[in-house]
Order: sequence, then C-alpha cells, then structure tokens
Amino acid sequence: MFELTGHRALVTGAGQGQGVGIARALAAQGAAVAVNDLVPERAEKTRSAIAEAGGTAISAAFDVSDHDAVTAGVAAAAEVLGGPIDILVNNAGIPESMGAVPFRQVPPERWRPYVDLNLYGAMYCISAVIEPMVEAGWGRIVQISSGAGRTGLKIGVSLYGASKSGIEGFIRHLAVELGGTGVTANSLALGLMTAPEKPQDTSVTAGIARSIPIGRLGTPDDVGAAVVFLASPEMEWLTGQTINLNGGSTFS
Ligand SMILES: NC(=O)c1ccc[n+]([C@@H]2O[C@H](COP(=O)([O-])OP(=O)(O)OC[C@H]3O[C@@H](n4cnc5c(N)ncnc54)[C@H](O)[C@@H]3O)[C@@H](O)[C@H]2O)c1
Repeated sequence: MFELTGHRALVTGAGQGQGVGIARALAAQGAAVAVNDLVPERAEKTRSAIAEAGGTAISAAFDVSDHDAVTAGVAAAAEVLGGPIDILVNNAGIPESMGAVPFRQVPPERWRPYVDLNLYGAMYCISAVIEPMVEAGWGRIVQISSGAGRTGLKIGVSLYGASKSGIEGFIRHLAVELGGTGVTANSLALGLMTAPEKPQDTSVTAGIARSIPIGRLGTPDDVGAAVVFLASPEMEWLTGQTINLNGGSTFS
C-alpha cells in the first residue's frame, strides 16, 4: 500500500522545513523527486540527503512565482526524470519577506508577495503539470495550506491567511473540474510546525503545545506521511478536500 515507485514528484520549497519531510517521504515510497527551492543550495542539500538514504532525487531550483521559470523548470525536471511530473506538492508558501504584522500596519506594497506565492505560484505549478496528468489519466496535486486560511487569528497574518484561503478555494474548484480524469487535488491545512532549520523558542511554544490535544507541534515527518497518503494510488476517491493536520486543534 502507498507504493510510489514509477511516479515522478515535484515538491516546491523543499530545501528546508516541511518540504524536506515531504520530499523524503515520497522518495522513501519509491517516487523520483524533483526538489524545488528558490535557494539552489537548499534544494541541493535535500537532494543529496535523499540520495544518501538510497532514494532518487534531482535539484530543481526556480522561483515558483515566476511563470517562465516554472515552465522551464518543470520541463527540465521532467526531462531529467524521464517523464512528466505526476505528483505535485505545492509546499512553498511563506514569502521571504513575511512578518507578523496587523493588517492596518501593512502598506499596500507589501501585500503582493503573498498572492504571488500562494495563488499565482501554486497555479503556475499546477498549470505546468496538469495536461500530461490528464492525458495519462493519473495525477495527484497536494496543496499545503494553513490553519490561518481557515480561521481568523490575532497574530498578524491576515494577508498570509487570505492567500491560503484563496488557494484552498481554487483547489476545491479544480478537483471538481478534474473529476473523472484520474487526477485528484486536495489541501492539507497545517497547524503550528517545527523543523530543524527553525528551532522554536520552547518558552514560547510550550504553552502552544499544551493547547494542542496531541501535546506537541507538528514535524516534517508528520506532513510527509500525510502527503504520501494523499499522493498514493489508493486515494483515488479522495478529492477536493482540505484536511486539517494539526494535532487535533480545531479549525473552522
Ligand atoms: N511552519 C509552520 O508552522 C506552518 C504552519 C502552517 C502552514 N505552513 C505551511 O507549510 C509550508 C512550508 O512551510 P515551512 O515553515 O516549512 O517554510 P520554510 O520557510 O521553512 O521553507 C520553505 C522553503 O520555501 C522556499 N521558497 C520560498 N519562496 C519560494 C519561491 N518563490 N519559490 C521556490 N521556493 C521558495 C524557501 O527558500 C524555503 O527553503 C508553507 O506552505 C507554509 O505556509 C507552515
């Protein structure tokens, strides 16, 4: 079950954080993985860790919010991997400039990166892989979203939350449009996560962890396992959903 040998995956923003766990998990199930990141050194680091663990991976560094770069990068990855991408994980989703600031203090010139990355970037990647998936009669699209896209939070992330809400809505429509083609599309709404590259200040996160029913923050391995499930051949009847992956915390 959940065997991915023979499939070719693209994971965006997989040079650090949750994307590393996603790329690693897909490769462990047998997929050949194109590791994307804006920063080439980060993509290469993940690629080499997967290769050392016995998996198949290539580096595919490009900016997902640049349409031409996405078109060229996806075509190059497909050529090196020997066929079109049939599993896409849109994981890149935190603009480099992101801060935690209430909406009234964010000037208009700082709004666009959220839309460029979480809407245009995700849609550029989907657009670059979708036709071969439909032609092949099989494909999996997994969108990484956030609890901030599902509920209002008083932590200064309104623009980020809006962009995540928007892409979740798009994924629902896409899934319905693709019904019957063999291609599914789902979102995973993550709760607060931790990762080796971004160690949390436990004096701050201990309280948050206590408020999570499972009692801890999420990890890249948690996300990797959930993505494998959604990407698997067995999940052909699961589409158009947003699944909360948050240790049991409630999202609307
Ligand atoms: N970290 C959390 O607590 C948390 C919570 C909820 C949801 N999420 C979601 O999980 C996903 C991963 O988050 P993370 O915390 O691992 O992020 P991160 O910032 O640690 O790593 C993401 C990677 O994406 C890359 N990236 C950024 N912009 C890019 C672009 N334009 N093109 C290609 N790559 C780009 C960065 O270089 C970075 O290496 C995001 O979609 C985020 O919204 C994270």
